[in-house]
Parts: sequence; C-alpha cells; structure tokens
Amino acid sequence: MRFLFRPPAHEAAELLSLPWDQPLEEWDEQLLLEVPQRGISRHVVRFVASGRHVYALKEIAERLARHEYALLSHFEEEGLPTVSVLGICVDRPGQQEAILVTRYLEYSMSYRWLFSSPRAEHSAELLLDTMVELLVRLHLAGVFWGDCSLSNTLFRPDAGALAAYLVDAETVERHPTLSAGQRRYDVDLARERVGAELLDLQFGGLLPEGIDPITTAEGLPPRYEALWEEVTAEQVFGADEQQWRITERLQRLNDLGFDVGEVELITSPEGARLRVETRVAEPGQHRRELLRLTGLEVQERQARRLLNDIVAYRAWLEQKTGKPVPEPVAAHRWLAEVYQTVMAAIPPELAGRLAPAEIFHEVLVHRWLLSEKAGRDVGTEEAARSYVANVLPRTPPEVTTPSVIAGRATGR
Ligand SMILES: Nc1ncnc2c1ncn2[C@@H]1O[C@H](COP(=O)(O)OP(=O)(O)OP(=O)(O)O)[C@@H](O)[C@H]1O
Ligand SMILES: [Mg+2]
Repeated sequence: MRFLFRPPAHEAAELLSLPWDQPLEEWDEQLLLEVPQRGISRHVVRFVASGRHVYALKEIAERLARHEYALLSHFEEEGLPTVSVLGICVDRPGQQEAILVTRYLEYSMSYRWLFSSPRAEHSAELLLDTMVELLVRLHLAGVFWGDCSLSNTLFRPDAGALAAYLVDAETVERHPTLSAGQRRYDVDLARERVGAELLDLQFGGLLPEGIDPITTAEGLPPRYEALWEEVTAEQVFGADEQQWRITERLQRLNDLGFDVGEVELITSPEGARLRVETRVAEPGQHRRELLRLTGLEVQERQARRLLNDIVAYRAWLEQKTGKPVPEPVAAHRWLAEVYQTVMAAIPPELAGRLAPAEIFHEVLVHRWLLSEKAGRDVGTEEAARSYVANVLPRTPPEVTTPSVIAGRATGR
C-alpha cells in the first residue's frame, strides 16, 4: 500500500494505524463516527476520529482519487472555499479502490440537516444564493464543477448568513478561463440536480410547505447571471463622476463578499470605462484584521460583526474614561471583558453546537431583540444568560463538530 499525504506529517501519522487493507465498508464500527443527514452519495464514505481531528474517507477509483487530491490541494492553496484534503491511500491489496482522505469541515451542515432542523430559518432562497455565490467564485477561477448539487456542497453558518464549500471535486475540470457556454452548462447541471434533490426532500417529507422544488431550482440560473454580471461587468461613466463611481463599485464588491484585485480605468474625453479584476479567493480582509487584533480565527462575516462590536466597545470605553483608547488596547479589553465572558457563560454540554463566533453573533442579535422589548439596553451579559437558557438549546446537538464527535467516540 502507498500513502500520499500533504504536510503536516503528524496528522497523517495518526491515521496510519487504521485498517487500510480492508474494504471501508467492513471497517469496525468502533472506529467510525456516525455523521447524520448527509447528502446523497455514490461511493462508500465514512468518518473517523483520530487524535483531535475528524476525517472523511471516500473509497474511489485511483485515477479519480489522484485527480481529486491534486485539485483540492490547489484549491486550498488558492484560498477557494473547498474542503481541505489530507491525502490518498493507493495500491491497496486485492485490487481495491483508493481512499481519499479529507479533513472534516468543522461546524458544517448538509442541506438535509438545514431543512430538517427545527431552526430552519435558512430558507431555500438563502441556500440557493449561497450556492450561486460559490459557483461564481469557482467560475471566476476557471473551475468547471460538472456536478454542482446540494449534496456536493457543505454549508456553514456565518453571522446569520451561510457560507458554502465545495466537497466533491471528482468531475471538476480546470481551465485558464471559462467560456460563457461552459458556465451556462455548469449552471444548468446545477439546476437539474438541485431540482431532483429538492423533489427527493419533498418526497421524504423534509421540505417545508410552500417550497416548490422545480420553481425553486429554476431560480438558480437567473440568480447566477445577476451575480456574475454584478461582479464582472465593465462600467462606463462620465469623467466628472469617476471617483465616487469607483469607490461605489469597490464597496459593492466588498459587500458581496468579493475581494478586488487590479482596477483598470480607461479614460477618454467622453468618459471612463472601469474594469475590475474580481478576486476569487475567500475574502479575508476582516478575518485578517480580527486575527491581528485578537488572535481569533473566524469566518469573514463573523469577523465583520465582531470588529463592529470592538468599535462600539472602544467608543463606550472612551466615553466612560473621557480619554482616547488605542485600538489594540480596546481589542484586548473587549476580548477579556466581553467575548470571553460570553464564552464562559456557555455550559460544556451546549458548547460545540455552533462555532464560538457564531454563538457570539447570535448573542448580539438576541441582545438587540431583548433590548428592544425592554426599551433599554440589557447588556451583553444578561443577553448571554438568556440566550444560553432559551435559544442555544434549540440548536440540535446533531450538528457534528469534531470536538463533539471526538468526545462521543472516546466516551467523554
Ligand atoms: N471533508 C468533509 N467534511 C464534511 N462532510 C464531508 C466531507 N467529505 C464528505 N462529506 C460528506 O459526505 C458526503 C459524500 O461525499 P462526496 O460527495 O465526496 O462523495 P460521493 O457523493 O460518493 O461522490 P459522488 O458525488 O461522486 O457520488 C458529502 O455530501 C458530505 O455530506
Ligand atoms: Mg457527492
């Protein structure tokens, strides 16, 4: 047998004791983790906990495993939103297929879980918009997916919205750029698959009333076209409105969650033409800023939310002390006095249901609701107490996070 693993090597080393010579289907149940509500899959896919991590293992033909391994490695280097690949195991005895190993995407949920959750506020619309954003991002990078579906996408809560990740790259083709025809074809495949998946959910009684599978899926291509147009369109405007037009456009792209690369402005006496190179990578401006200030690693929208809270806290500190408070000082105090106070209020049995930053975001939303009802600001501490008592328990524990499932596996 042969293992090909990407660094860090210690992670791979932890996995070497698994029974790679046996068919994945026959692995001892004791080694495996139950991950509920997954998408529809053709291959044998199993989950294992090893060390502090959880991995997804997929049995698949060697040629495809190598293809997927190489692609996912590149995607990760480029910062595209995909699952992270660890390696492959090939040359298994008795002509068995290869096994592809990816890291379990923490705090991710499948669409089945999202629809069947008692907190199914994630409407079909939101799900589609998130998928469309993922497709646009991939297409900008020259990635033809060929199998875009709800089953092949994982969703993560991101400050009340969702972020989507590609999980299955088996059919992916990489090109320098995609033609309009290739893009249209990819979107059309997605429309068909999503329609079938929603019908399947409806059949299983999991689709909320009032969502029509076909009409919903038909909404995918126009949404895609609108977003594609928005991020790629060339703009023409008069010479006197140049500056604010550029600012407006860049702000809009940032708001949509895209980063901006090179900006090209071609001027002529009649006016100007603006071409913007939209970056495909996961947007990172706010994440980097929050990491620098607090050491917290979170998702982009969550970071924006937390940074706003730091700004508000800084203003409050300055008002209270009557002196200017430097940003790093404010961030440090916010972390200790606000963020960690909220985290400390979460009992261990409820921790792990959502990412900590998502919990913080929900506490802020809850604080706003409570304050509005009370006609005064109830404060973060009181909001956290009420949230932990009344809201968080409604998030079902089925949301599998490595800490939760690893704990379950070792009986902790
Ligand atoms: N790294 C991962 N983290 C979380 N969930 C994962 C991961 N890898 C796979 N899954 C889950 O397992 C399911 C099946 O995985 P995948 O789509 O790669 O295999 P498959 O469906 O058998 O392949 P195909 O779509 O070609 O039939 C996914 O829908 C996803 O829910
Ligand atoms: Mg799949």
